[in-house]
This record gives sequence, C-alpha cells and structure tokens, in this order.
Amino acid sequence: MLGGARLLCQRPLGWTVPATLRAWLSTCGLDSVAHSKEAERKGGLGDFHAKLTEGPSLQHFLQEAAPVQAGHHLLAEDDPAPYLDPGTLAEAPSKVYLETYGCQMNVSDTEIAWSILQRSGYLRTRRLEEADVILLVTCSIREKAEQTIWNRLRHLTALKSKRPPTQAPLRIGILGCMAKRLKEKILDQERLVDLVAGPDAYRDLPRLLAVARSGQQAANVLLSLDETYADILPVHTNGSGTSAFVSIMRGCDNMCSYCIVPFTRGRERSRPVASILQEVQMLSDQGVKEVTLLGQNVNSYRDTSEVQFLSTAPTHLSRGFSTVYRAKQGGLRFASLLDRVSAVDPEMRIRFTSPHPKDFPDEVFQLMRERRNLCKQLHLPVQSGSTRILEAMKRGYTREAYLELVRHARDFLPDVSLSSDFIAGFCGETEADHQQTVSLLREVCYNTAFIFAYSMRQKTRAFHRLQDDVPSEVKQRRLKELMTVFREEAARANAAAVGRLQVVLVEGLSKRSPSEKCGRNDGNLRVIFPDVELGDGTGTVARAQPGDYVLVKISSASSQTLKGTPLCRTTLKESAAFY
Ligand code: 5AD
Ligand code: SF4
Repeated sequence: MLGGARLLCQRPLGWTVPATLRAWLSTCGLDSVAHSKEAERKGGLGDFHAKLTEGPSLQHFLQEAAPVQAGHHLLAEDDPAPYLDPGTLAEAPSKVYLETYGCQMNVSDTEIAWSILQRSGYLRTRRLEEADVILLVTCSIREKAEQTIWNRLRHLTALKSKRPPTQAPLRIGILGCMAKRLKEKILDQERLVDLVAGPDAYRDLPRLLAVARSGQQAANVLLSLDETYADILPVHTNGSGTSAFVSIMRGCDNMCSYCIVPFTRGRERSRPVASILQEVQMLSDQGVKEVTLLGQNVNSYRDTSEVQFLSTAPTHLSRGFSTVYRAKQGGLRFASLLDRVSAVDPEMRIRFTSPHPKDFPDEVFQLMRERRNLCKQLHLPVQSGSTRILEAMKRGYTREAYLELVRHARDFLPDVSLSSDFIAGFCGETEADHQQTVSLLREVCYNTAFIFAYSMRQKTRAFHRLQDDVPSEVKQRRLKELMTVFREEAARANAAAVGRLQVVLVEGLSKRSPSEKCGRNDGNLRVIFPDVELGDGTGTVARAQPGDYVLVKISSASSQTLKGTPLCRTTLKESAAFY
C-alpha cells in the first residue's frame, strides 16, 4: 500500500515495468490499493516475505523485459503468471458490460478492451442486469463529461450494493482518460469501484480483473511511449456493419494550453503500417464499406517501425503553422499511409479524424483529389477566430494562416466538406475576440461544427498560467451565438448540394420513417431518400441494402440533413461517370 501505486506512476515515461513485475508487486499490495478487510488481514511483513519466496524468479522478469513479439502480450492467455492462482484467472466465464463515453477514440478503445477480454474467456452482455463486470470507458475532456461518469457511478454502485449475497459480487471498473486523471479520487472516494485502467493499460485488464475478484482494488494507469495495440485486432461491433473505425495512432504532443489529452493519453505514437493494412484488409473481406482512420492527430502519423522508414527527411507542416516541439524527422507519413490504405479496396470509403491543421502538406490534398474512395471531407479544428486567443491556446497558427489553409484545401478539393471544433469563452476572450470567431464561421461556411464552452482542466498550461475569467453565462451566450451562426451557414453550404447527384452509402432505414432509407454522402452528411426498388449496372432491380452505394439527386437541404430521389444502385467506380 504505502502509496506504492504513486511510486509506480511517477517513474519516468518510457521505462516500462514488466507486466509480470507489476502483477507480482500487486500481490504484495504495491500497485493495487487494497481497502478490503480481507486484504488488511492478509497484509504484514510475514506475508510480504512469503510472497518474496514464492514469487517469480529474476529470470522470469528478464524474460518479461525482453522486446515483446507481436501476439505475445496477453498475460492470461500466453504467459500464465506463476504467482496468481490459475483458478483465479480461469474461473467460470464472467459477463462483461461495456459502456462508452466521449470521442470516437473511446469507441475504438472499447473494441480493443473487449478484444483482450474476449481472448481471456470473458463473455459480453448487452444487458446491464446480467453483468458480472461493468466497465465504463471514460472521457475527461470537459468537466461535464466527468460529471456524467460520476453520476453513472453512483447509480451503478447502488446496483452493486443491492446484489444478493448468493451471487458473486458485481465488479465495476473505470477505463480510459478519467481513470488516468483521477485514479486516487476514484479509488478513495468511490470505494465500490474495483478496477481502474488507463488508456495504455488495457492489456492488463485480465490481471486487474483477477485481482479485483480476489477482493482488492486494482489499478494500472501507466502511460507508455510505444503502446499502439497493434497486434490486437479489435472486435468491431457497430450496428449495421457497413462502417468501422481503425485506430492508427495514439496520444498527442501538441500541448494546446486548454487540453487535458496529452496528460491522460500521453505521447504521440503511431501504429505500424503493416498492422493497419492487415486490419483494413480484414474489414474489406468482411464486407465493411467505410473505414475511418482514428487518432488524436491522425495526420501527424509517423511510422518508424521499419528501418526503411528511417530517413532524415523533416516533416512538412502546412504553410504558416508551427509546433511546440522540434521538427520530427523520418518515418512513413500520413500521405503514404493514405495511399496504401486507399489501395486495399477501391470500393471502400476512407475517412480520417481528428486531424490537426498544422499537418497538411500538399501531398495529402493531392492524393485526396486523385483517389475516388478518399472522401472529400476535412475536419480542421480551429478553436477560435482570434489570433490573440489562438496564441493563448498555443495552437501554433494565426487566423490568417488558418484561412489560407482553408483556401488552399478548397483549391485542391473544390467540393470538400469542412468541419471544425470551437471553444467559446476561453481565458481572456473578449467580445471582440468572440466576434472574430463569429466572422470566421461566416467566412469559412462549415458543413459541420462541434462547439464547446471552455472548461478549465487541472494540469493544463491554462490552469497554471491563465485566468478562467469569462463568466459561465457569457460562455453559454457565446456558445449559443456560435451555434446559431453555424446553423445558418451550414444550411447555406448544404443548399449548394440541391439539384446535384451524390453517392450515398446506405446505413439502413431512416429512424423517422420506415418507408425511407438513410445513408451518408461523401462529405459524411446524412441523406434520406424513399426506399424504392432500384436498378443497378447489371440490370437487377432491388431495394438498396446497408452497404450499397446509391446515386441520389438531392432535392432539399437543412443544416444537418439532405433529402433526395434515388436513381440507381451503383459502385464508386461506376459513379465516376456521373461527375
Ligand atoms: N474545454 C472545452 N473544450 C475543449 N476541447 C478540448 N479541451 C477543452 C476544454 N478544456 C475541445 C476542443 C477539441 C475537442 C476535441 O474538444 O475543441 O478540439
Ligand atoms: Fe488536445 Fe490540442 Fe492535442 Fe487536440 S491537438 S488532443 S486539442 S492538445
């Protein structure tokens, strides 16, 4: 106990405690925070000595510290731990209920966590009341996101305490960003939480759950410099089976002054290209028609896993953009990744999110223009339209440089669909700064926007150096203004599609009407059209199914949706004739 967890957490980044050592330390109570009476009874020096004698040998640690081969990570599966009773790991299969909060990255993390648990013999349930283990994959980006989790935890812990003694106790775990940020608070205040696992600790879940089953609280929030879960092929669980997310990189080196992500998710690292291509191929074989490449800064992708990628060529930033870190050299870059991924299946649409506007060399735009299956959709998070606020946010660009990037992108991709993130009421934001954001929204005319009120986060640069001085009601008023302006402009931008042909990837029936189908156009906007029989290039007539492409003539547009008349079922290749 002795704050052992703290000791482990404060080690320098990059030194990875072998899983075996961590596991063994935990049996000595050094990384799990044992609050249970059972654990207290067991404690003491005698117990510690006994464990010293019975624990794994030095040789075992040395083996663990050796470079890990792909596919040989999983403690419970490949490397039975000599210090845990095998019965603890291999008990009757427990049912896990997973709940995801926050961004798409968390959706992908949920799939990774589930894949790891499945390989360890766990079953998944979609019914809360059936669960033996409930895991929440959490988000810390704003106070409100965390509040939602605290409320949910209260509800779940009440459920746990009502569990009849005839059943094995329900175990509750917190995964992801909030686990990393608030480990102590979660374990100390919410005593009914059994397990805390940070974003780089999912491989350790089987062991943590085994520790939790023995009645102790278990935690691992260590950040890694190289964990990309490259060898864990996630289990894709999205409803219609037409789309999937593929995580290509993790972490962030940008240190925007408002953002907690670099602290919860750690340093930037890229998943090796070979494992990405393997996953995309597998998805294509399964009939998936759309893949979204995911990462905190997808376009900062830089794979250095193979010697041939290690040139000394510096990375090229977008014109007028800078970084807080020194220019990175070498590695296989995002444009090359896009090139390879889009070649896997020319009938599979490829999107990516979330990029950083600094990493858009011309090659990326060029490739997007050339490849039919690379969607003409760009998320360019601007955050503010005021250069003064952008400087305070440490974004590395001015309003002018950003607008120049937008012009440049539109030169390459005239019909590109643009989206962005905005923060209302950042530290020191005046009414004049806010009006600059309003005017930028009007000038760019985005198709989609995500607008947030600023939420001060501990540890960030803004927390230490700036004043959160915009009153909450002013933040809310500015947020509403930005939303109103965005909606007006988006309706205008989307109206440009009326009368034009669009290729829509069908997702299923419209939620509003069973006689209509719903899908997405190239720019990722929702398109609704009547569910009627349609011909295709071979002369077959049938209703469109999820995963089919349909050519639709757009007849009306709002700020969020397009409506139109379906003309035929098509393919990406055939549809080129219509443009
Ligand atoms: N407060 C409000 N919004 C934030 N974001 C990141 N940190 C904060 C914060 N502290 C927003 C940014 C980012 C998006 C993912 O979340 O707009 O692009
Ligand atoms: Fe946060 Fe900035 Fe990194 Fe995005 S780029 S995750 S906003 S620090």
